[in-house]
Amino acid sequence: MTKIIEIKSRQVFDSRGFPTVQSNVKLEDGSIGTSIVPSGASTGSYEACELRDENSKYLNKSVFNAVENVNNLINNHLKGKDSLDQENIDELLINLDGTDNKSKLGANSILSVSIANCKAAAQSQKKEIFEYLSKDKKYKLPFPLMNIVNGGAHANNSLNIQEFMIRPDGANSFEECMQIAFLTIQNLKKILEANKMNTSVGDEGGFAPNLNSDEEAIDLILESINKSGFKPGKDVTLCLDVASNELYDGKNYSIITNKKISSGELIDYYSSLTNKYPIKSIEDPIFEDDWSSWSSLTKRLGEKVQIVGDDLFVTNHKRLDRGIEEKSANAILIKLNQIGTVSETLKTIYLAQDNNFNTIISHRSGDTEDTFISDLAVATKSNQIKTGSLSRSERVSKYNRLLNIEEILKNPGMSAI
Ligand code: PGA
Ligand code: ZN
Repeated sequence: MTKIIEIKSRQVFDSRGFPTVQSNVKLEDGSIGTSIVPSGASTGSYEACELRDENSKYLNKSVFNAVENVNNLINNHLKGKDSLDQENIDELLINLDGTDNKSKLGANSILSVSIANCKAAAQSQKKEIFEYLSKDKKYKLPFPLMNIVNGGAHANNSLNIQEFMIRPDGANSFEECMQIAFLTIQNLKKILEANKMNTSVGDEGGFAPNLNSDEEAIDLILESINKSGFKPGKDVTLCLDVASNELYDGKNYSIITNKKISSGELIDYYSSLTNKYPIKSIEDPIFEDDWSSWSSLTKRLGEKVQIVGDDLFVTNHKRLDRGIEEKSANAILIKLNQIGTVSETLKTIYLAQDNNFNTIISHRSGDTEDTFISDLAVATKSNQIKTGSLSRSERVSKYNRLLNIEEILKNPGMSAI
């Protein structure tokens, strides 16, 4: 047993410059874990609640109440408890909150403590976080789903689809994944510059040019893959996050410029898009409540395309249960702050894996220098991670941590620190 002696929180800022919660958990042996929580822009309606203040000083974005909840209620409740029992710590947090969506204390305050406790416990055990989190001491480096073009709610441009990503399927190591992504991204930049297009980046670090259509973005990415000497569909595949909640008006979808289409027509559109292009993964293709269209799409394309539930499942094992039952998808996006504790996140990951769903560990569009998700991906042998482009340090820090982990695993006994 290693007791928690103090938990302390404060308001800091995320990559969009919005306030967020940072917490430290201090243990009796001097170990300290620190965590900063991320925040989404295209959030699902069933996500755990992010507590923000109604306070004009920070345009209703400050998190002083969430910080106060950590410093008083949570600190008093967890002081003296065993940090090494993560499940118990998380259960105490869940019960102290007492609501279904963590709206009393805020999922931001709860998650910051849950992750910080896990990090402190790993330090106390003199283990890397991924080692401490692992069930069986077997590890796997994930393939990065690297955001290369940003659209939708993540960029101020004309693209409807939120994320255009590349996955370096031909790579034999994480380091090689990075090299393939690096070349493809640099070549895309050159192509955009040659076409006098904007090369400034969106929230997740991908380019955000103003193009005439989503298909034009795909064509430019394919050109950059070819220019880099790789074979599209073999060395590098394409992955999309449609974030279709944002395109749905309650009846139809606005994914094709100047046209509104039904869910049936949308499924036909995905079918033709995946026939035309080497697209191997589509996230949130359908609005979060239309379960039957999700099942139809998975039935139609699920053999050859990864169908990923993000806003559909919100990392919640109850919604995932339904998805397994109804064969709604074949993969789940995992975001810790959608559910609010490390233990609940692990439960959802293992439920998915036990039912042959791929697990993709994910950042949020408003993220921070915290690299916990890299360790989580390796510890849970998740075969993919989605954490933005090769720019903006809050994205690159996750890739750098994975490079460190790859080095640690190749040299047992050596620490990258
Ligand atoms: P968000 O976007 O963090 O803004 O929700 C990421 C995603 O939709 O996957
Ligand atoms: Zn998404």
